[in-house]
Parts: sequence; C-alpha cells; structure tokens
Amino acid sequence: MCETADTGTAVNGVVRVQTRGSISVIEVDSPPVNALSRDVRAGVSSAVVAANEDPDVVALVITCAGRTWMAGADIKEFGGPPLEPTFTRMIGVLDGSVKPIVAAVHGTALGGGLELALACHHRVAATGTVLGSPEIKLGLLPGAGGTQRLPRLIGPVAALDLILTARNVAADEALALGLVDAVVPSDELRRAAIATALEVAASGQPVRRVRDLSERIAPDAVPADLFTEARMNLSRSTPDLLAPQYCIRCVEAAVTMPFDDGVALERELFYELVDTSQSRALRHVFAAERRVKRPPGESASARDVQAVGVVGAGTMGSGIAMALADAGYRVHLVDSDRGALERSDTSAAARYQRMVGRGELSEAAARARRDSIGRSEELVSLRACDVVIEAVVERSDVKKALLRQVDEVLGADAIIASNTSTLDLDDLASVIGDPSRVIGLHFFSPAHIMTLVEVVRGRHTSPDALATALDMCRRMNKTGVVVGVCPGFVGNRMLLRRTAAADALLLQGAMPWEIDAALVSFGFKMGPYQMSDLIGLDVLWNRETTSSATIREVLCEQGRFGQKAGAGFYDYAESRRGAPSEQVADIVRGFARRSGQTQRAFGPDEIVDRLMAALVNEGAKLLDEGIATRGSDIDVVWVHGYGFPRHRGGPMFFADERGLDRMLASVEELGIPEQEPAPLLTRLVSEGGRLATYEPGVPSSG
Ligand code: 3HC
Repeated sequence: MCETADTGTAVNGVVRVQTRGSISVIEVDSPPVNALSRDVRAGVSSAVVAANEDPDVVALVITCAGRTWMAGADIKEFGGPPLEPTFTRMIGVLDGSVKPIVAAVHGTALGGGLELALACHHRVAATGTVLGSPEIKLGLLPGAGGTQRLPRLIGPVAALDLILTARNVAADEALALGLVDAVVPSDELRRAAIATALEVAASGQPVRRVRDLSERIAPDAVPADLFTEARMNLSRSTPDLLAPQYCIRCVEAAVTMPFDDGVALERELFYELVDTSQSRALRHVFAAERRVKRPPGESASARDVQAVGVVGAGTMGSGIAMALADAGYRVHLVDSDRGALERSDTSAAARYQRMVGRGELSEAAARARRDSIGRSEELVSLRACDVVIEAVVERSDVKKALLRQVDEVLGADAIIASNTSTLDLDDLASVIGDPSRVIGLHFFSPAHIMTLVEVVRGRHTSPDALATALDMCRRMNKTGVVVGVCPGFVGNRMLLRRTAAADALLLQGAMPWEIDAALVSFGFKMGPYQMSDLIGLDVLWNRETTSSATIREVLCEQGRFGQKAGAGFYDYAESRRGAPSEQVADIVRGFARRSGQTQRAFGPDEIVDRLMAALVNEGAKLLDEGIATRGSDIDVVWVHGYGFPRHRGGPMFFADERGLDRMLASVEELGIPEQEPAPLLTRLVSEGGRLATYEPGVPSSG
C-alpha cells in the first residue's frame, strides 16, 4: 500500500482507504460506473481484511467516488474464466467481518453493486439513489447472494418483484421496503455513514448480517401460492426466457433451504446462465447500444438545440413533434393544411390526457406539453429554429421544393433534416446552398413510441450536424444509428430481402401461416404476412395496372386488402389474429405450380434459417458498402426498429451463433438472383470471422 497526501492509502489502482478516527473508509474509484472488476473486488476484499486486523479500527464504511456506487459486476469479464477473487470470495470476506460495515450508497446501486451493499451490515443512501437488480436484462440472475439476501431483508414478494421486473427503486421506496436504513442529502452521505458506523460500533451489538435474518422468510410470512403464480405469469409473458425461471427457483430456495445451500444453487445457476446463448445475446445488445453512440469518423460537439421545426402534420410529423415535445424542445409544427394541424393537435391532446389518466403526467404538465408544440400554416414561423425536420409526402419533387423554401427561411447554419425513408438524401441535399447542414432522420412510426432512428449521413453531412442529430436522439430517449445513403437504408433494405425470401418459400411449398408461425415462435411479434395484413395489402397496389402477376395482386383483386377488409393472407371473421384461409392456400398453390418449382414441406427451423439468411446476407453487403459501419449497429437497428427478439441478439449475432457456414449454405439455397452470397459473408466463412463484431479495419476473429 502506498501513502498519498490527502486521498488516503491506495490499496490498488481502484480502491483506497482513509482512516477517519476509528473508522476505516474504503473508497472505490473505478470510472465510469465503478463496475465490480477483479481489481475492485480484490481491493475491497483486502481493505476489509486489513480493517478487521487493525486494532484501531472499530467499524468500516464503503463508499464510491464519482457519479455512482458500483453499478454491477463488470460485464466485460463475463464469458471469460472466473477471476479471483470471485464475487463469492469477496462477499465471504464481508460476511466474515466482525466489525460493522456501512454502505454509503449513491447514484445507481445495481446488480452486484446492490448485492455488495446487502452484504454490508447497514445501508445509508443519498437522495436520488436508485437501486435494483437488472440482471435478467442480461439473461442472468443476481449471482452474488442477491437472490438469498433480498428475500431475507425485504420479503420474498418484494424480492421477486424487484428481480423479475428488474425495475429501479428510488431511495424513498427503498427505505419503505427496508432495502436501506436511512436516506440523507447527497452532501451529507459520507458524514452520515461514518456517524452510523460509530454509533453501531459503540452499541457493542454483534454485526447484523442479512444472511442471518429469518422473519421475512418464515413459512407464515410467505404467501402460499407465490411461486406457482409467478411461474404461471412467466409461462404467459416470457415462456422462452431462462433467466426469469431460474430467478424464481433461487428465491424459492431462499425460503426453503438453508442460506449456504441457497447461495450454492444460485452460484450454479448463475454460471449456467452466463454460458447461454440468451445471455450472450443480451450482453451483446447492451454493448452494441452503447457502441452505436460513438460512430467512427471525425467527431464534433453537439450544438445546443432549443427550438425544432417539423414540416408536415401527418401521422409521422405529428409523432415526431410529440417525441420532441416529450424531450423538452420547443416545437414549431407547420403544414399548409389547417385541418391536418387541427387533427394533429387533437390527437396530441388525447395522448396527453391518457398519460394524465395513467398518472404519468399532471394536468399542468400535460397542458405545458401541448402548448410547447406551436402550430402554423406558414414556413416563416420556422425562422428561429435550430433544426428543421421535414416529414412531408415521400416524393422527391415535393421534398426538394420544400427544402428550397426552408433554406430561404432559416438562419445560415440551422440544420435541415429529412425524414425520407426511400429517397436519395444526397440528391435532396443538392438543392440546399450548403449541403453539409443536411442530414437524414428516418423515424419509425409511431415516431413518439418507436425507439429507432436511422441517422443518415449524406456525402456532405458535417460532423457537427451528425453529433447534434445523435444528441437529439439521446434527449428523445431514442437510439440513433448512423447509416449511409442507399434505397431503404439499413432496416428496410434488409426487410425487402426477407420479404422476397418469404415469397420465394411460398412458391416452394410453404404456406404464409407456416412462415409467420416460424418467425413468431422464434420471438417476433408477427410474421411478414400478418404484418402485410395489418398494414394493408393495397398500400402499393394499383387498381389500374394490376395484372394478377403476384399473389399480392390477386389477393387485392379479390378485395382481400388485409385486416381492415376482414380478409387478406388470413381470414379475420373470427379473430383479429386471423385464421388460415383455404382460398389463399389455393391461390398460393396455383402460383407455386405455375412457377415450375418442386414443392415440399418446410419445418420451422429451415424457414427461420432461410429468412435469416436473406437478412444476414444483405446486412453483410451493407457492411461491405459502408452503409452500415459495424455488424453490431445492424443488430441495434433490428432490435429497436423491427421487433427482432432481444434475447436473440439481432440478425448478425444470430448468424454467428448459428454458424456463418450454415448461413451461407442457406443463402445459396434461396436461389434468388439478387440475393447471391455477399463477398464479406463468404470471406468471413473462410477466415473464421464473426459478423456481429465486424467493423472494417478492425480484426473480427471467431
Ligand atoms: N460493467 C462494465 N461496464 C459498464 C457497466 C458494467 N456493469 N455498466 C455500465 N458500463 C459502462 C458502459 O458500457 C459505458 O461504457 P462506455 O462509456 O465505454 O460506452 C459506461 O459504463 C457508461 O454507461 P452508460 O452509457 O450506460 O451510462 P448511463 O449513465 O446511461 O447509465 C448505468 C449508467 C445505469 C449504470 C447503465 O450503464 C447500466 O444500466 N449498466 C448496467 C447495470 C447492470 O446491468 N448491472 C448488473 C450487471 S450483472 C451483475 O451485476 C451480476 C451480479 O449479480 C453477479
């Protein structure tokens, strides 16, 4: 240990100890979030042992420097061999302390961080602290004694709730639950923790270990059907996820087994979960969501944006306006159609009223939110805006004419964004004097709900416009993914390929409902044909030119426009989910016969492989072309914008798990001329590389 002037004694690079009278204050300082890495565990363990051996120390305080108490285990360590000292060993050291330990908690006390606090003997929290067990979001369970200590401290009902919902508990609720013993103002945290430590030591009482508490887990304190009901709920809500089931097993063990046996079971199940594909996938998405915030290339600081204009008060423009208002921007919504503006105002008011009804907004806040969206028929009202987003009809001539007008009205450096989903952004930008101010913001509908925004970097888009757009996404609580210019960008271009692959399967013998069912059991909310029925088959259909050339055309010619018509790929007479239709089966069989292809049955796995192959192959092409910059960015697009099941990690991660050679074989089986194998996919197969971690210029080993 080495002495430093005012910061105490360094135990190692991330833990130091200050002695305050007879109290040893152990401080963890491991930015950004004090994750419990090997060094942190080692530092805390040796500091606790040393304090117990020091005759001048009567009690200990554990605290953290920086923005937060320990926010959990170090996620980067998962996947490798357990590193000593393990959590079990560190928690064992805390359990062995004969001197009282007080946790001085602030910021986000999550996962292993909360578990460390639970292994202390008292917990003092600063106001504003949130506590929680988010492990199931990573496909894990609280693996440092949390499943055994939480029920003993706050009861199995609350423990199950916290663990299964992974929700954050605010300091006041934590106090009411008994999770913490006191809540104090932030600037008094350390002093209050030291005072508590002195008081407890002076009382001469033996240390109060949570592991020894038994009242809350006594048989008469546990509702009889608690675990049966929890299992029933899971079988309805998330039947495919392993972690929640294991969490229930562990909490049940807390009330039925001795503490050490419960901990042993918890440890065994935790390590089993770490190795599952579900946990790997969820951890991949967690990291990908953070990586996506830092696109490669020149970086710049985001501008301070106060006022944002939105042109076009249709569904998309209104949704964008609400998303901006929710984030605290002043919004100016412009449409030449007064009726559209009024409809948009009515639907915003109705939404805010619903939020008031659910207790999410006060009446006053709802009024302020509504008032923060100014509405006008005149483009001049955009004059003072820092950013303007156009969301008018998807026609190049209309958008270009509008952009020219917007350019004339706006200040010289205001950012101009287009919400185009299909048009060439560089072409649109060519009408603006300075195209470096132009960027694409491809929102997904409904824009106030969907979390994905494809942030389209045009040929001339400046780093400053890009940084500002990403910062706006962050403020709106959206996930902005930077993509390049091409028809359909990343998400829709891949979706188009999947649709083509599904249609090809129809000609080879699969039925629409078999394809949908395969994707639903994979984890999507719906398959491509259920989706088509929902959107309406007539969206791209032209009554004048229709010629019975495709299955979709024939369905439209027969008035089968989808759900709204009571018939589409499915019959909707009986349920909104639709039933397989004999009429559609005949049409599909007719097309299949005329295609001259051999028909056969397809099992769900093969269907999934084919459709995934189409997605993954196009994803690889997007990476090769530089439209998507990292494999993990594509996964974020699909998880946030297209309902790809999070626990499958996104298409690129799925492909790696399934095996790229198998994916390549499925691409070849597609037999679709426009879907020939992507050179990158072929190359990664021969090199043994991975897609989810692929980034040009960065080695991507298997
Ligand atoms: N391990 C390693 N790094 C972590 C981390 C963790 N547990 N939590 C966050 N980080 C990193 C992020 O990757 C990010 O790194 P970057 O700057 O290089 O991208 C940085 O910390 C900041 O994170 P955010 O961008 O997410 O910052 P926010 O302020 O938005 O959020 C947070 C902070 C609420 C702590 C959020 O990061 C979070 O929820 N972290 C995960 C918490 C968690 O899941 N803990 C449980 C882990 S599992 C566990 O503890 C097992 C145990 O039971 C044995």
